[in-house]
Amino acid sequence: MADKPFGSVISDRMTVSVYEQDRFNVHELVAADALPLHPAAHVLHYGSACFEGLKAHRGSDGVVRLFRLDRHAERMRISADLLCLPDPPAELLTEMVRDTVRANLDDVPDPPGALYLRPVLIGTEPNIGAAARAARTALLYVIASPVGDYFDSSRTLTVAIETQLPRTTPQFGQVKTGANYAMALGITRQAAERYGADQVLFAPDGDVQETGAANFMMIDGNRIVTRALDSSFLHGVTRDSVLTIAREQGYDVEERNVGVPELVERTPQVEMALSGTAAVLAPVGALVLEGQRLTVGDGSPGPNTTKLRETLQAVQRAETPDRWGWTTEV
Ligand SMILES: Cc1ncc(COP(=O)(O)O)c(C=O)c1O
Repeated sequence: MADKPFGSVISDRMTVSVYEQDRFNVHELVAADALPLHPAAHVLHYGSACFEGLKAHRGSDGVVRLFRLDRHAERMRISADLLCLPDPPAELLTEMVRDTVRANLDDVPDPPGALYLRPVLIGTEPNIGAAARAARTALLYVIASPVGDYFDSSRTLTVAIETQLPRTTPQFGQVKTGANYAMALGITRQAAERYGADQVLFAPDGDVQETGAANFMMIDGNRIVTRALDSSFLHGVTRDSVLTIAREQGYDVEERNVGVPELVERTPQVEMALSGTAAVLAPVGALVLEGQRLTVGDGSPGPNTTKLRETLQAVQRAETPDRWGWTTEV
């Protein structure tokens, strides 16, 4: 699987639960090849869709464990609420994710690969006159994808800074919904074409938020600086995990706003990294600001980024004790 692009291979089986008459039905295991969707379905017209992304890792003991399943279920419920979709019970979500892993257990690759799980919730009511109200029926499903690295781990990333356009609207910063990725897509594609950028760091009015697919942090010796939780960005589970591990390893964590001038000034001395389920903790080697390329540190992966990434992966793979109860056996 490691040779196939991230997310392009989908496992054979998925779990599905239909929401109708104000409740989610008992979920079923079905072939992951088609959805029963009316052309007038609410999601196709009014964007009523949210999703999650988490991983199941095969430990060095051969046991498969999900990483921070409860946090991802919690975040999905926040997304559903903000999109006026029905609230999927946490127990249903977690059982559907576990059953999806169990049904595709042979697809869980050995490290550094993992089985990526994608729970999705969509409004299905066939009604093209329902722009101003919530869908009355919905579909919750969980698909799986055996994946390797999202970013090529042998090199550092180039990140372009966008100082004007936002990644999302103010009310959807914390929501994991397709509309946010659609907003970022054109800007990200242009930065890739012009500067060979892997990601765009959104900093509207010079206020650093996050990239199109990961949270951003700056590491200066034993100090980590990252934006404090607010409604402008997605509250990454990896961000929380990295900060928790870092605090325990004696790092000082500063959660505060960072402006582009500070970023530029500190670029030669610090490490920068992107955190996310797919990105893990990916080192940034260069920033591009208004067409100008700035090397981060000496351009190679920094020691702190590497150390924190390895510690996180050791917990995920049960190579070190999980003191926080982050992993769930399936
Ligand atoms: C926009 C955005 N921010 C941050 C993240 C990181 O979140 P997490 O660490 O929970 O995967 C992701 C990845 O899902 C993302 O798409």
